[in-house]
Amino acid sequence: MAGFSTLEMALAVRDAGGLGSLACAPFDAQALEERLAAAKRESPTAPGTPLNLNFFAHTPQAAIPSATSRWMQRLAPYYQRSRTPQPAQLDPGVLQPFDESRCEVVVAHRAKVVSFHFGLPGGHLVDALKGVGTVVMSSATTVREARWLAERGCDVIIAQGSEAGGHRGSFLDRDQSTQLGTFALIPQIADAVDVPVVAAGGIADGRGVAAAFALGACGVQLGTAFLFTREARVSSLHLDAIRAAATTGTSITNVFSGHPARCVTNDAVREMGPIADGVPPFPLGMAAMAPLRVEAEARGSRAFSPHYCGQTAPLCSQGLEAVSGLVGSLVDDAQRCFGRLGVASR
Ligand SMILES: Cc1cc2nc3c(=O)[nH]c(=O)nc-3n(C[C@H](O)[C@H](O)[C@H](O)COP(=O)(O)O)c2cc1C
Repeated sequence: MAGFSTLEMALAVRDAGGLGSLACAPFDAQALEERLAAAKRESPTAPGTPLNLNFFAHTPQAAIPSATSRWMQRLAPYYQRSRTPQPAQLDPGVLQPFDESRCEVVVAHRAKVVSFHFGLPGGHLVDALKGVGTVVMSSATTVREARWLAERGCDVIIAQGSEAGGHRGSFLDRDQSTQLGTFALIPQIADAVDVPVVAAGGIADGRGVAAAFALGACGVQLGTAFLFTREARVSSLHLDAIRAAATTGTSITNVFSGHPARCVTNDAVREMGPIADGVPPFPLGMAAMAPLRVEAEARGSRAFSPHYCGQTAPLCSQGLEAVSGLVGSLVDDAQRCFGRLGVASR
């Protein structure tokens, strides 16, 4: 969860018996090297236990000037009302795709597991990772995407249902109106590919874990539930928005970044979205909205913030708990569910 998870969280998940993910999308090669060195320093007791390194694999697209200008005109009344200057140009910022320089660092560290969002990087980079024995995972939001990933050597497919919080991993099929929920997606992907499937989206407790396994998953990936852990780095504004999501609801929207993401429904989503035409392509869309977000947040307003959150928000602990407690209760509750079904579990 780039921007919201921490090394501390990844290590705590790992220490509790899960596969902790380190959000590496914001790091260039040097920052990545420093972060991996820090991970090694902070986990001397379990050097062999893997962490997952998560990267983005989007294809950066140039903004179309006429579309960008129309989008900035759409935002202009908000900029005027808040007396905030519009950005002179849109900077892609730190969210860069996995490339040769990052790959060199990962290969040098012989990372055991790497996952991607938005497809896969070039085949030579996937080959380089697999050449040092790295397990490669990526998200699929449709059966077609899952087949595409498996054909290109992906070792594990993360089936991301439409309930999931944060950005959709979609890279071939972008029409969100036809996307499946996790319950329908897992068995269809499990039937379509020969590699293990991990379920993501709409899982926040043991019932969800047990259901995912019953449907053909061999693992689960949770995001939203971990936003309520002490090891997460989430603003109080964001946590309050998630706590209110039982009333406001969540929406898949592209207005905050140019790529569809599930967020708490707020003024920006209601007035401009949820899916708007002409938003500059990811991640440039973030730069178009950023000054409005910063100005609003300074006033304590959530109107322009992408408060990423899945449909399970009301199921999550509304207070902060330790990662170890969350992972422990997920495992215990799932085992109880399996017990009720008369299924042995480990
Ligand atoms: C705040 C937030 C940030 C996320 N950032 C990333 C990310 O950087 N990389 C990624 O692969 N998935 C990211 N995701 C998606 C999760 O990996 C996962 O698919 C999703 O959270 C599962 O659904 P759930 O939110 O219902 O648990 C993010 C999700 C959330 C809620």
